[in-house]
Amino acid sequence: MPITRRQFLATAIAGVAVTTLPHCTLVDSDTDDYDYVLLAEPAPVEILPGTSTPAFTYNGMAPAPLLRVRQGQRLRVKFINRLGQPSTIHWHGIRIDNAMDGVPFLTQPPVQHGESFVYDFLCPDAGSFWYHPHVNSLEQMSRGLVGALIVEEAEPAGFDQDLVVVLKDWLLNADGSFKPFSSPRQAARMGTLGNVKTVNGLQKPVFEVPAGGLVRLRLINVDNTRVFDLSLKDYPAQVLALDGNAIAKPYPLDSRPTGAGMRLDLGLVAPAAVGEEVVVYDRKGRFNFEIFRLRSVPAELPRRTRIPALPVNPIPAPQLAEAEVLNFVFEWEGALTPANSDGKVDHKFWMINKRAWGHMSADHIPAPLAELSLGKTYIFELHNASPHEHPIHLHGYTFTVIGSDKREITPYHTDTILLAKNERARIAFVADNPGDWMYHCHVIEHMKTGLMGYIRVS
Ligand code: C2O
Ligand code: CU
Ligand code: CU
Repeated sequence: MPITRRQFLATAIAGVAVTTLPHCTLVDSDTDDYDYVLLAEPAPVEILPGTSTPAFTYNGMAPAPLLRVRQGQRLRVKFINRLGQPSTIHWHGIRIDNAMDGVPFLTQPPVQHGESFVYDFLCPDAGSFWYHPHVNSLEQMSRGLVGALIVEEAEPAGFDQDLVVVLKDWLLNADGSFKPFSSPRQAARMGTLGNVKTVNGLQKPVFEVPAGGLVRLRLINVDNTRVFDLSLKDYPAQVLALDGNAIAKPYPLDSRPTGAGMRLDLGLVAPAAVGEEVVVYDRKGRFNFEIFRLRSVPAELPRRTRIPALPVNPIPAPQLAEAEVLNFVFEWEGALTPANSDGKVDHKFWMINKRAWGHMSADHIPAPLAELSLGKTYIFELHNASPHEHPIHLHGYTFTVIGSDKREITPYHTDTILLAKNERARIAFVADNPGDWMYHCHVIEHMKTGLMGYIRVS
């Protein structure tokens, strides 16, 4: 270790299919101070066959190495920055100590080029999470700094295969170089979509699954923009977890809109016939577009019929009767943005409660959007007063979605809620984790052009 991308691809090609992302455990044998080392640096990767893309990588890989830890244990990661620009790592979805949340200026100074920082935190919940920088996010995430963080259940969940699938688009020219990561025109609308869709860094791959085996499929949308409507068409699969968090009663998947930053865990029984395939689709209206497929390979497994449910995470139950209600309106600013004194245009297209904040620096931290009292229950009324979807994400918390004027809600736990256009939704949580917590849209261009704020819990 580290595994280079070349080795990763070689493995992938040799086996025809990759079954998992490379699992990169780097224990510092001298001191045993950390479980993983993540070294961020620019490195070329091959996304379009035969071309080279100037990516940003962790340990030479994009997408980044898969990290695994067990629920209730600490994860210790030494982050070394050799990107040539400041960075941090944020652990998306973990109910984490504020000091480890990886937000520049708000929770830690940015880690400068040549510096390192040890992230050391407890993982109280099991599930499919992920990690990414929170500095210069548009460039750093577009160039590939996104990876999966899997927190395994305290007791093995009983699957024959655990398949981690990282979905990311790249916006590339034919020679592998990047096109501009953003345009004002798109930033003011749904955001800029990539033109090369990848699954664990590969285009339309086929993953081998054990014939007749019980498969857990962890779909993780690490893209900056895209909303996938994930579907297996007619192949039966159970929804086990939404955005990392197990649901109490699994139900059959029809399709699930999964915005930037969101996840979907499915359970399915692989086809019993060797060679048979299951296709995973992105549904668009009447059409289904293939993302990747699973293919059954010979396996000596007992016949599986029942798909187990996962244990629900220990999220404190909101005390709705005593809750305080806070309102948040997400809307389009729609004003022309003047150039700054240096001639650069700092576009502001989006606002939360009439305030746009898109640019983070030491001297540019506004007041929190709300101040919450530690231990109290809050209901947030979210109103998307815009004609575009927004995956709204809150750091440091897992909240419960309790209502919507657009769809029927069976309350569920999540860290990111995809608001449809003009939707009003209600979320609730116990403010039990003190600190300043980012609260933003996960369409990175929306965040960078105003749709960002934070709440303070004290
Ligand atoms: Cu993945 Cu600030 O978030
Ligand atoms: Cu986050
Ligand atoms: Cu948005």
